[in-house]
Amino acid sequence: MNTQTPESAGIVDPSAVLDERFKDAISSVLPDLPREQIQTHITPSRQPKFGDFQSNCAMPLAKRFQMQPRELAAKIASAIDVSGIAEPIDESSIAGPGFINITLLPSAISDALGTLDTPELGIIAPDAPPTVVVDLCGVNLAKQMHVGHLRSTVIGDAIARLYERLGYKVVRQSHVGDWGLPIAMVVQKLIEMEADGLDLNLVTLSQLNGMYKKAQAQCKPETRAVQILEKVGGHPKAMAELELRIENASEHLERAKARLVALQSGDEESVRVWQRIYDITMGACLHTCQRLHANVTDEHSAGESTYRDELGSVVQDLIDRNIAEEDDGALIVKCDGIKEPTIIRKRDGGYLYATTDMAAIRRRVQKLGGDILVYCVDSRQSLHFKQVFAAAHKAGYTATSDGHSANLVHAMFGSVMGEDGKPLKSRSGENLNLSDLLDEAVSRAAATLSERNPDIGGDERHQIAESIAMAAVKYADLSIERIKDYVFSFDRMLAFEGDTGPYLLYALVRIRSIFRKAEESGIDTSGIESAPFDLRDPAEKALALKLLRYPGTVEGAGLNHEPNRLCAFAYELASSFSSFFDQCPVLKNDDDALRRSRLRLCQLTGRVLEDALHTLGIPTVERM
Ligand code: ARG
Repeated sequence: MNTQTPESAGIVDPSAVLDERFKDAISSVLPDLPREQIQTHITPSRQPKFGDFQSNCAMPLAKRFQMQPRELAAKIASAIDVSGIAEPIDESSIAGPGFINITLLPSAISDALGTLDTPELGIIAPDAPPTVVVDLCGVNLAKQMHVGHLRSTVIGDAIARLYERLGYKVVRQSHVGDWGLPIAMVVQKLIEMEADGLDLNLVTLSQLNGMYKKAQAQCKPETRAVQILEKVGGHPKAMAELELRIENASEHLERAKARLVALQSGDEESVRVWQRIYDITMGACLHTCQRLHANVTDEHSAGESTYRDELGSVVQDLIDRNIAEEDDGALIVKCDGIKEPTIIRKRDGGYLYATTDMAAIRRRVQKLGGDILVYCVDSRQSLHFKQVFAAAHKAGYTATSDGHSANLVHAMFGSVMGEDGKPLKSRSGENLNLSDLLDEAVSRAAATLSERNPDIGGDERHQIAESIAMAAVKYADLSIERIKDYVFSFDRMLAFEGDTGPYLLYALVRIRSIFRKAEESGIDTSGIESAPFDLRDPAEKALALKLLRYPGTVEGAGLNHEPNRLCAFAYELASSFSSFFDQCPVLKNDDDALRRSRLRLCQLTGRVLEDALHTLGIPTVERM
């Protein structure tokens, strides 16, 4: 599988080249040290008079090989070849206990920046782009989206966008939970309620959510309670009440099971009510996705119900080829290295979540042409995915048309916690409804905005507040390593300072306003995109070197399914820009060539920042 690298795109990141050249030199001085263990410890110089970078590699290596650090540094210095990248390194480059000082050639950075400053920003699509299927969102019928779906939607969409940015073919799939007994329970409940006069056309998702819970509760026998009462000797009246409830529950359950059979066989009334539930849920869900600037639409929905006619053939196929075996009446697939077998058919003949996911893998590889299948799903489902991935490999469902095996990845994420350190819940202890949460973020953003910038009013304020809020919520979710849990804090994520979405939006607004101001003061910015770079100040060099990391960062974030890497980059870029802007006069510079060089640097920073935010799915604003 071919992927492009910054180098193949013609970009020479001097920092990356330095790193390689240092590794070469260390290898030649210490031939016993395996290359993958070499750490070059190259950091920006603390004092510009010592150059741009220093390598602190000699001290730990000297300790390990029991050598004198300055002597080792001198050996590395004489072995290194930095031609085309830095000023020659020799004994005079060594300072203190063995630091090696490095001064980059100004032309090395300017030339590299010139190659970055293209429409693609150094990111070149592979010649034969692989297809990536991204499993994201995955809401459940008759339930409102909660914060867990925030993560599967926002992170999943960012992973999809990263692959798109790298030039891969991307297919999004929302594995909507729209089939099975729990859904049949609500269908049954609604049909009963319709008979009592309910108008299905007026039902909202939040009402549906309530009916879903009631239907579930009605079908749940309280056998445990009876056992306990029997043990401790409950009051006969309480016992009688409970027994009645259990009887009712099993009646409800029987009706739901019958409803499932009717639904599966296409019974008109069942399908009509199911469709209504589907439309209510998806209407609200897709609206929230749109609000979140997540590219999840109707065409991406591939619910469990769409596999219903494939489950039988999957199971039969697994039996025919001896992949599955009987176990105490159930049908299971055993896989090496996984203790718990994958159950694909229950004793009562019913199919399971895993059966559907087997069918989904087969469809995604064989019909959709997936070379890579990424599942952006909660880490609590990690055993499930281990099992179905292994079972699908065993069954050969991951074989691509060109004879490879598709790569299956569970890009799992942790939980969203409240400030009390427990999973985020509403005051009444319910799962927090996502759209309520977004509404609150918007009203808080609007309040901050009117305080900071009272000139922005009415509709515009509302629109900007909406974008700021979405940027804040999304950035807070994306910037954390996805495996980790994180604490949801409106105050922190909505702050205009620090590692936040609003800070990044503000950085972009500031860059855009430089060009507005230039125009106002009659400074000619035409042709700025080809102005020669003149990088003198350490702050502008630092900004330039940061920019050069962009293509490599997008690639690393995409191929490792870690949008947080791109978030960290965007934040560092905005911070570098801010130091540059404090230290290097741009518009107030009398040196015309230097001003044009700096304006070009501003423009390139703006383009890279905008591209990074777009790749993360974070909306931007013109002013705030
Ligand atoms: N509907 C599931 C849930 O809410 C998520 C679906 C994940 N995707 C999958 N292919 N199993 O837990």
